[in-house]
Amino acid sequence: MSRNANEQRPPSHKSDLNTAQALWRMYPYVKSAVPRIVLGMVAALIAGVVALGIPLILERLVDGPLSTGDSAQIWPAVLLVLALGVVEAVMIALRRWFVLTPGTHVEAKMRNALYAKLQDLPVSFHDRWQSGQLLSRAVSDLGLIRRWLSFGIVLLVVNTVTILIGAAVLFYWNWLLGLIFLVMAVPIWIYGFVFEKKYSEIARRSQDQAGDLATAVEESVHGIRVLKAFGRGRYALKNFEAQAEDLRGTEIAKAKAIAGIWLWLLLLPDVAFALCLLGGIWLASTDQITVGQLFAFFATATVLRFPIESIGFLLSMTFDTRTATDRFFEVMDAPNAITDPEHPLTVAEPRGELRFDNVHFRYQDSPERFGDLIDGVDLTITPGETMALVGLTGCGKSTLTALTTRLYDVTGGAVHVDGVDVRDLKREELRTHIAMAFEDATLFSATVRENVLLGRADLDPRSPEADRVLAEALDIAQAAFVHNLPDGVDTTVGEEGLSLSGGQRQRLALARAVAAAPSILVLDDPLSALDVDTEALVEAALRRVLSSTTALIVAHRPSTVTLADRVALMQEGRIVAVGTHSELLATNEHYRFVISSLEDEEKREAAERRRVGVAESNADADDTRTEGDAERDIQITEAVRQGLDDTHPDRDRDDRSNTGMEVNR
Ligand SMILES: Nc1ncnc2c1ncn2[C@@H]1O[C@H](COP(=O)(O)OP(=O)(O)OP(=O)(O)O)[C@@H](O)[C@H]1O
Ligand SMILES: [Mg+2]
Repeated sequence: MSRNANEQRPPSHKSDLNTAQALWRMYPYVKSAVPRIVLGMVAALIAGVVALGIPLILERLVDGPLSTGDSAQIWPAVLLVLALGVVEAVMIALRRWFVLTPGTHVEAKMRNALYAKLQDLPVSFHDRWQSGQLLSRAVSDLGLIRRWLSFGIVLLVVNTVTILIGAAVLFYWNWLLGLIFLVMAVPIWIYGFVFEKKYSEIARRSQDQAGDLATAVEESVHGIRVLKAFGRGRYALKNFEAQAEDLRGTEIAKAKAIAGIWLWLLLLPDVAFALCLLGGIWLASTDQITVGQLFAFFATATVLRFPIESIGFLLSMTFDTRTATDRFFEVMDAPNAITDPEHPLTVAEPRGELRFDNVHFRYQDSPERFGDLIDGVDLTITPGETMALVGLTGCGKSTLTALTTRLYDVTGGAVHVDGVDVRDLKREELRTHIAMAFEDATLFSATVRENVLLGRADLDPRSPEADRVLAEALDIAQAAFVHNLPDGVDTTVGEEGLSLSGGQRQRLALARAVAAAPSILVLDDPLSALDVDTEALVEAALRRVLSSTTALIVAHRPSTVTLADRVALMQEGRIVAVGTHSELLATNEHYRFVISSLEDEEKREAAERRRVGVAESNADADDTRTEGDAERDIQITEAVRQGLDDTHPDRDRDDRSNTGMEVNR
């Protein structure tokens, strides 16, 4: 909401293609709809020609029976006009019927393609693109394309042809009057070309701004709790109003541009009519034209009025659609560097070994002058081992875990699963070997069952096997609370799971990772929102799973560290030490410092929890930690206390690490 939209959106501009070429890019999606669109055009064209034919009969009527008073011939002519009128109406109805459905099919096809592309594009793309921009492309831009296909393109083609045929007919009636009428149309066409340039720029701006506005709405709805809690609703509103005002300004400029062309489109035919009337009266008085011909000329000119007037509107609609097409293809053309390999390998017998080989990584938009964020990580996690990853905030732990499932690709070195480079595996296969739980436990607005079984596409969600996996995962994640929800595991958890508490969401996200039954579990700080008791329960249950699974766990709590067989200490993008918790405590100063700051943080959190009184609802849960655990904790704390004195060099580095490091990355 407070982000500067233009900074976030990748530079967008009109494509270098001309309007026809830009629109032609839609052809693969439109192909199947073409027959109906063409039939629609034919029907519309017949309607147009019939309308132009009516003045022909009128001329005969005026110059014939009406002037001679032969009433016997009037009726057949009148009936003929009536019949032509009916044909015209039927053709218009047919046109509507033909073009009604194809646009909707095309829209659905393009929307599905866009969605599939968005799913396929790497996380780095989504880092850079605002969700509102994508939303407005998927909704309003494609809606515009549908309307254009349903009648914009049909009327544009048909009206242009009608104008051309009509002009020929006018010349047939009288070349001089035809010429006057046509000469008056020339300024309209010139204006049309000038209009194109000016208008498509404004159209693009307005569509982009509408996307920004959608982002603003999306973000403030998303962050409504934060806004309310900080009383920033008014600030968000101000921001929104400013953006809405920008869009309003653009819309007004757009309306002015359209009004400009409308003025000419309405004025010039009127002027042409007046001039033709003067010329016509002179021609009739000098017997160069009959009254019937003059009458027919004006009847024809009247038929042409709507097509000429509508051209401006249809042109602006076409340019809007061109912009929408550009915006659609901007996403579709976005390169995806994280794809399946051409010659994929497979892990024949998953053992669960995870190895980082001299891994380097930097974010795409990271300035040149900064070094790699992940700076040569060598780390092997042997099958069945649990490795905790510990380090100060911002040192790159989450980033390192994201490299395992190719949310980002390494920029140097390689990540190996059972000896195979993750980039040599199909992404689908890779994700059966590794399951992740993230820091922010995102759920979908779906049932608990669907959320937890998300990674198990192989299971029929209603099968007994699925029930078993679900129950086990929920048990390990200590998520028994779901049984108290109104519909148990079939309760829909609300958008992004926001109807649940943070700890509840985290436990479901953990259950989701566990249910995927991977050979390697990557958990990014999976227990941070839990109270100490629940955390202990989850840990005990995790121990059961972890004995058979390889795990890399980013730990923000000393107690999570104790789960691990070994601990890897990360500092400024490097693994600086690996060993058991007690080894590191005994030998590594930085480790002692990190653990003590984690403990401080834990204490702060506990105090905060007590203050706010939002302890998780598992107050009655048994503490399953053994006396041995408790004793060891005391020893650890003791060791930490002895190992640290107040003049420890890392003490001073604390603040710098927390703030400065983020700037350095
Ligand atoms: N998508 C991104 N694009 C650019 N930079 C990023 C992105 N995500 C993280 N960073 C930067 O990378 C650095 C490391 O972030 P990371 O999330 O890996 O740290 P972390 O060790 O997990 O920290 P924490 O303990 O707070 O979770 C930070 O300085 C952060 O600003
Ligand atoms: Mg992190």
